Amino acid sequence: MNVIIVGAQWGDEGKGKVVDLYSAKAEYIVRYQGGNNAGHTLVVNGRKTVLHLIPSGILHPGKICLIGNGVVFDPNVFFEEIEALQTSKALADTAHESVRVSERAHVILPYHRLLDRLREEHAAGGKIGTTVRGIGPAYEDKIARRGIQVVDLLHPELLRSKLEKAIEEKNVLLKHHFGAPAIELAPLYDECLQLGERLRPFVADVRSLLVNALRQDRPVLFEGAQGTLLDVDHGTYPYVTSSSTVAGGAFTGTGLGPNFPAKVIGIAKAYTTRVGTGPFPTEIERTEPETAERIRKVGAEFGATTGRPRRTGWLDLVALKYAVEVNGMTGLALMKIDILDDFDFLKVCTAYRLGGNTLYDLPSCIEDLERVEPAYEVLPGWPKYDRTQIRGRGDLPPELQSYLNFIEAFLGIPIVLMSTGPGREETWELSDPFAKI
Ligand code: IMP
Repeated sequence: MNVIIVGAQWGDEGKGKVVDLYSAKAEYIVRYQGGNNAGHTLVVNGRKTVLHLIPSGILHPGKICLIGNGVVFDPNVFFEEIEALQTSKALADTAHESVRVSERAHVILPYHRLLDRLREEHAAGGKIGTTVRGIGPAYEDKIARRGIQVVDLLHPELLRSKLEKAIEEKNVLLKHHFGAPAIELAPLYDECLQLGERLRPFVADVRSLLVNALRQDRPVLFEGAQGTLLDVDHGTYPYVTSSSTVAGGAFTGTGLGPNFPAKVIGIAKAYTTRVGTGPFPTEIERTEPETAERIRKVGAEFGATTGRPRRTGWLDLVALKYAVEVNGMTGLALMKIDILDDFDFLKVCTAYRLGGNTLYDLPSCIEDLERVEPAYEVLPGWPKYDRTQIRGRGDLPPELQSYLNFIEAFLGIPIVLMSTGPGREETWELSDPFAKI
C-alpha cells in the first residue's frame, strides 16, 4: 500500500512527526508540491535540523527521497540542507544516491524572492503574509510559461535564452513599479550554470523512478506540505499558497495517474492554528485571548520557517469535513492532543452562522467566510493523566475518548493515529495505512 499525507487545516498540523513514522515503512518518499516554505524540525544525533525542502524521510537510512515536478525548487536551499545533513552524519558523501530532483521541477531564482518581498512590502492592506521564499512568483512564472526548469540548468544555450526572456518583463516591473534596480543577466546566468553543474548528479526522471517503484510494489509515501485550506484551488483564496496542497496534487506533482492503491491520511491538530493573514472562523485571539495564549504557549505555536506566532482557535469540524471530502481522506491523524489537557471544557465548531442562516459547508466567497460566526458544541475537558499508564485508546480518560468519538462520528472517517505528547512513544498508531488489505 502507498500513503498520501496531506495537511487537513492551514498547515503546521505536525506532519513532520507522521512523516517520520511512516517513512520507516516506505521505501520511497516524495515531495509533490510547495517548496522551502514548509519546515520540519527534527533532532538528528542530538543536533537540531530543520528541513524545508528535502523530505524528512532522509533521516531513515536506505530510503530514496524524491523531489517531484510539482515542487518549486531553490537549489541554494537544497545544497545548504545537503551540507547540514552531511555535517551531522545523517547523509553520506554519496548523497545523490538517496536524493533525486525532478528534471521538470521549476527553479526559484533570486528575482522570485525579491518580487515576493517587494509585493508584500507594497501590499498595504492586502498582505498575504507569505514566507517570502519566492514561492508565489516562481509558480506564477511556471503558469505563465516563462519559468526555468531544473533541466534547463543543464543546457547552457537554452538557459541563456530562457533567462533573457524571463528577466525582460521583470526588469520593467522592478524599475517602473517597485523603483528597484534591474536584474543583470550575466551574473545570474553564471550562477545558474554553476548550480546546474553541482546539481547534475541529483537530477532524475522522478516520474519514471516512481512508476517502476509502484510496479515492483515498493511502498511510496507522498509527503504533502502546507494544508488543504492553503490550496490554490480549494483553500481560502487569495489567502493561500500557490500550489495544490490537496491529495490531487500528489498525481500532477509527480506525473502519476490515480491507478495505484493508496490511502489518504489527513493530519490535523486537536485545535486549529493559522499563520499569515486570511479568514479563520474559530480564531479566539480576540474573543478568548487567555485561552489563545495558553494554547500558543503550551503548544509552542511559532512557525518553523519564519518563527512567527501562530493564530490559534478551537477545532473547526466544518472546515475539517470539507478537507475530508476535497482530499478523499481515508483516515485522520490527530496531533497535539496533550495541549488540550486540563481544560474545564472544549469547544468544537459544527456549523457556521451567516446572516440568520446556518451553513454546514465552507462558503466559497471569502467575504462570507470572514463574516461567519462559529456555532459550537461544548464538550467536557479531561484532567492531566499519567501517560506512562496508557497502552491504547481505551486507557485514555473517558472525556478524551468522547472527544475522539465525536470527531470520528462527525467526519465519518477513523482516527488512525493520535499523538498525546512530543515523544515518539506518545504517538499511537491505531491502524497501519501501509498494511495490505
Ligand atoms: P507562501 O507559501 O510563502 O507564498 O505563503 C502563502 C501563505 O501560506 C501564507 O499565509 C503563509 O503563512 C502560508 N504558508 C506557507 N507555507 C506554510 C507552512 O508550511 N505552514 C503554514 N502556513 C504556510
